[in-house]
Amino acid sequence: MKYAFIGAGKMASAIIQGMLRGKVCDASDIFVSCPEPDLLQSLSDATAVQILTSNADVAAAAPVVILCVKPQDAAKALAQTEGHLSGKLLISIAAGLSIDTLREMAPGCRVIRAMPNTAAMVGRSATAFACDSNVTNEDEAHATAIFSSIGEVYPVAEKNLDAVTGLSGSGPAYIFLVMEALSDGGVACGLPRKLAQALAVQTILGAAELARETAEHPAILREMVTSPAGTTAAALLELENRGVRAAFIEAVMAADRRSKELSEQ
Ligand SMILES: NC(=O)c1ccc[n+]([C@@H]2O[C@H](COP(=O)([O-])OP(=O)(O)OC[C@H]3O[C@@H](n4cnc5c(N)ncnc54)[C@H](OP(=O)(O)O)[C@@H]3O)[C@@H](O)[C@H]2O)c1
Repeated sequence: MKYAFIGAGKMASAIIQGMLRGKVCDASDIFVSCPEPDLLQSLSDATAVQILTSNADVAAAAPVVILCVKPQDAAKALAQTEGHLSGKLLISIAAGLSIDTLREMAPGCRVIRAMPNTAAMVGRSATAFACDSNVTNEDEAHATAIFSSIGEVYPVAEKNLDAVTGLSGSGPAYIFLVMEALSDGGVACGLPRKLAQALAVQTILGAAELARETAEHPAILREMVTSPAGTTAAALLELENRGVRAAFIEAVMAADRRSKELSEQ
C-alpha cells in the first residue's frame, strides 16, 4: 500500500517515522510534499521517503492521503491537489476541521478525522479518530495501522473529538506544566535543578505506568500512597485548598470550548 503526506512538519515526520518503525510500509511507498524544499530534503535524508514538489502529484501518488498541515493552510493545500483526491481516503490530523468541512474542501473523498498528540514523536500518542459515513472497514484498518504505529488508538464519534482535543490533544502541555512546577518545587526545597527535573519526569512516567498496568481508578492509587497524617496527605490538602482538581477539569472544558469555536470559524 502507498501513502501520501501533504505537509512535512513535526507531526508528519513523527507519523512517517512511526510507520517505518512499525513496518506499516516501506519508505519507498511513502510520498511527501510541502512548500519548503529544505524540510522535504531533510525528511527524505532521514527516512528515504519519496519527495514530490506539488500537492497534485502527491495526491495522485497514493490511495491514502494524510493531511498534516496547520488548519489555516488546509483549504489551500487541498485545493492544490487539483481533484486527485476524488475516490480516495483522506486522513486529516488538522485540529478543529470537521469531516463536513474537509469533504467540502476535497469533494469526492472518504474522510477520517484524527486527533493525535505530540507524544507521537516518541511512539506514545493517544490518537482518537472519527470516520465519515462512507468510510470502509478497509479504510478504518488503514487509519488504525497508521496511528497504532505512533501509540494507542481510540475510534470515537466525531462529536467527541473536541473533548478529545481538550483532554489528550492539548493534554501533554498540561503535564509539562505540572512537570515544570514539580521540578520548581524540588528546587525551592533545595534540590539541584537537573536532579529535580529528572525526579519530576520519572515520577510522572512511573505514575502513568502504574495506572496503566494496574488499571485501577486513580483515586485508589492515590489513596494507596497517602498515609494518615503523612507527607502526601499534607501536600494533597494544599492542592485541594487551591482548587487544582477543579482547575484541571475547567482546563479540559476550556480547550473543548475553544476547539468548538475554531471548528465554527
Ligand atoms: N503538534 C501537535 O502536537 C499536534 C497534535 C494534534 C494535531 N496536530 C495537527 O497537526 C497538524 C500539523 O501540525 P505540525 O505541528 O506538524 O505543524 P508544522 O510542523 O508547522 O507542519 C505543517 C507542515 O505543513 C506544511 N504546509 C503548509 N502549507 C502547505 C501546503 N499548501 N501544502 C503542503 N504543505 C504545506 C508546512 O510547510 P512549511 O514549513 O513550508 O510552511 C509544514 O511542513 C496541524 O493541523 C495540527 O492542528 C498537531
